[in-house]
Amino acid sequence: AEARLQEHFDATIGRDQRIEPRDWMPDGYRRTLIRQIAQHAHSEIIGMQPEGQWITRAPSLRRKAILLAKVQDEAGHGLYLYSAAETLGADRAELTEMLIDGRQKYSSIFNYPTLTFADVGVIGWLVDGAAICNQVPLCRSSYGPYARAMIRICKEESFHQRQGYELLLTMMRGTDAQREMVQDAVNRWWWPSLMMFGPPDDASPNSARSMAWKIKRHSNDELRQRFVDMTVPQAEKLGVTLPDPELRWNDERGHYDFGAPDWDELRRVISGDGPCNAERIARRRAAHEEGAWVREAAAAYAAKRAAGRRA
Ligand code: ACO
Repeated sequence: AEARLQEHFDATIGRDQRIEPRDWMPDGYRRTLIRQIAQHAHSEIIGMQPEGQWITRAPSLRRKAILLAKVQDEAGHGLYLYSAAETLGADRAELTEMLIDGRQKYSSIFNYPTLTFADVGVIGWLVDGAAICNQVPLCRSSYGPYARAMIRICKEESFHQRQGYELLLTMMRGTDAQREMVQDAVNRWWWPSLMMFGPPDDASPNSARSMAWKIKRHSNDELRQRFVDMTVPQAEKLGVTLPDPELRWNDERGHYDFGAPDWDELRRVISGDGPCNAERIARRRAAHEEGAWVREAAAAYAAKRAAGRRA
């Protein structure tokens, strides 16, 4: 019977159809999805911190309203993604425990500090730009609930990317000091943004399996190249330089050539030793502990209502 189920699963993937929660799936497929979706959800939630730190210091009411909306969107993305993980049998409370115990990962990018308001613009432009490159193909991921969550998330990410670019265009039309701030932020965020796509293909243990299952649609290096090709003309239009002396158009390949990120740095940041890892997890843990009364109250309220219905 298992062989028949496996055959049906393989045929569904082969026809580019979706796997749904009620369908049989191999354990490895389920585990891989829970891992990737949970890491993705954690990234959205931890990702609220670096920009959230600027909400009280935004330079105008307009910028504050935009930033508030954006950080709230990230909370929403985290919640859709935790829901998608729950359709696979994962327990949300347990996923949160695994994040704050360091047993599950979240994106390396959110372990870098936001030093000036230009960082808010550069995160929108580069970090959300990289997120879009990585996530648009995930709208075609083979697991239905994940793919559908990605559609709305990508629409909101596009707004985030545009608000960042618009913020930077505004700063670039300002004073020399503002232009310097933008360039400094670009210098600090460029390489970490390239690292978001993960290790190079020959050092990516999960890629081949995930691509065969059509969870991932492109390899880490393909998406990194796509991001560079998309971003260089935007940098030119903005009037900033990207901090890579090897960056140049390659006519033969029809792509930009670019230098190699510092893969040791990525390894360090993923393993917990980045500039802000400890701070990010401590903040998340404190928020979780300080929110215990809300969870208890919600559970008590739900129990009371259920008892009321039974009476
Ligand atoms: N930061 C943290 N961990 C990473 C990163 C990164 N930038 N890149 C890779 N890793 C981890 C992988 O999760 C994997 O961990 P594990 O096997 O121990 O669980 C390990 O390093 C090896 O990498 P890969 O084999 O390449 O892993 P995978 O096939 O999962 O590819 C990728 C990594 C591209 C990030 C993939 O998981 C993905 O597309 N995830 C969905 C998108 C996402 O999570 N985005 C979050 C940031 S964007 C945002 O939230 C705004």
